[in-house]
Amino acid sequence: MAKRIVVAIDGPAGAGKSTIAQRLAARLGFTYIDTGAMYRAVALWAMRAGIEFTEMHRLEQLAAAAQISFRPGGGGVLLNGEDITEVIRDPRMSEAASKVSTVPGVRRELVEKQRAMASATSVVMEGRDIGTVVFPNADVKVFLDADSKIRAERRICDLKLRGGSVDAATVAREIEDRDQRDRGRSTAPLMQAPDAVYIDTSGLTLEQVEEEILKVVRQRISNGKEPHTLE
Ligand code: DC
Repeated sequence: MAKRIVVAIDGPAGAGKSTIAQRLAARLGFTYIDTGAMYRAVALWAMRAGIEFTEMHRLEQLAAAAQISFRPGGGGVLLNGEDITEVIRDPRMSEAASKVSTVPGVRRELVEKQRAMASATSVVMEGRDIGTVVFPNADVKVFLDADSKIRAERRICDLKLRGGSVDAATVAREIEDRDQRDRGRSTAPLMQAPDAVYIDTSGLTLEQVEEEILKVVRQRISNGKEPHTLE
């Protein structure tokens, strides 16, 4: 059987993970998995069901029951058959997902689903704990970071593109709060794996970041060849 490859991309909000991970997956012919969307999906379901963030057991049950799937080629995310791609991008959902993600039982259930998704195919998986917890033996680990001002600017651009009304100071504060929560939680906090390659994307173009990571991919898994030629 062909070797399955895991490319793990972690980092804080606004570091460029989603865009880069999608491009890489397309380039390599791997499946793209956005684990943040999975926490957002559970948060959405909890909000609709009127479950409080303090009801840890009920949240864990939701995470276990949630059927989450991704359309191929970064084409969106489904929760129990419903397309929730757009609705989970609301800034309120970012905060809700960050809160839900502090619940250990929710993490346990979603990590299990993430591992199952990578059991049949090579993946580029992005999140906060992919290289540390979900796949500590990932073939390639990258930690993407950027200056907090730049991360806030990117998020503001994103929100404007989606047509939302944007208050720059509020967005910057929300990003900071979320980072603190994601880094400070006791279960699987956001941190760089010791063997991850650190890339500061602040002054780099998308193409430069992509090339940088492809270089690492080539070094680690394919002796210089394009990885999908191995499969
Ligand atoms: O990547 P994102 O902004 O869509 O993630 C939303 C929240 O989900 C984020 O604030 C923290 C949480 N998350 C997590 O705890 N672990 C992951 N692997 C991915 C996301």
